[in-house]
Amino acid sequence: MEAVPQSPAAEAVPQALSGMSAPEASRQHSTTLTSPDQMQELGRRLAKLLRPGDLVLLSGELGAGKTTLARGLGEGLGVRGAVTSPTFVIARVHPSLTGGPALVHVDAYRLGDGLDEMEDLDLDVSLPESIVVVEWGDGKVEDLSDDRLHVVIHRVVGSTDDERRTVTVTGVGARWADAGLGALTA
Ligand SMILES: Nc1ncnc2c1ncn2[C@@H]1O[C@H](COP(=O)(O)OP(=O)(O)O)[C@@H](O)[C@H]1O
Ligand SMILES: [Mg+2]
Repeated sequence: MEAVPQSPAAEAVPQALSGMSAPEASRQHSTTLTSPDQMQELGRRLAKLLRPGDLVLLSGELGAGKTTLARGLGEGLGVRGAVTSPTFVIARVHPSLTGGPALVHVDAYRLGDGLDEMEDLDLDVSLPESIVVVEWGDGKVEDLSDDRLHVVIHRVVGSTDDERRTVTVTGVGARWADAGLGALTA
């Protein structure tokens, strides 16, 4: 009797998608990653789906992998400088090295809920020509755009040395109605 070949991708089939209606499913994609390298690779793939004016929110606890994902995004976009966790700077602009959109990387961790500081960043001015990626932006930057991509990262278990992460990418707004998020892990 022949063994049925098991596709490695089968494990990665996001459970969250089962039972969802098709339009919903196309706007949400979940996957489990097992290393920082894989997180960076996900960022590089995500970069291929992005275009100027796109707003990406990265959520997840400290050490979840938000900056690691953003670094992959920067690599995929071909921008200048590695994306890092800024110590003093809240927003950093990484210009494209290839004539594409700049990456504006924001770490809103130290920003209060007051919108004033956020407004000082003039993200609304940068957004049309750039890709804006915001860590800790929940509840702070949604007003910038009706269309946004929410990326939520969870540790699979609580232990800090476990490298597994689940990542759920959800598109909000018409921009992401049929954006092929499945390509992220295909
Ligand atoms: N699967 C994974 N994805 C991303 N980072 C991981 C993973 N496993 C372990 N890590 C480690 O967790 C840390 C994530 O840090 P960082 O990306 O700065 O997180 P955040 O920006 O969410 O605070 C890094 O030290 C990274 O090496
Ligand atoms: Mg970070």
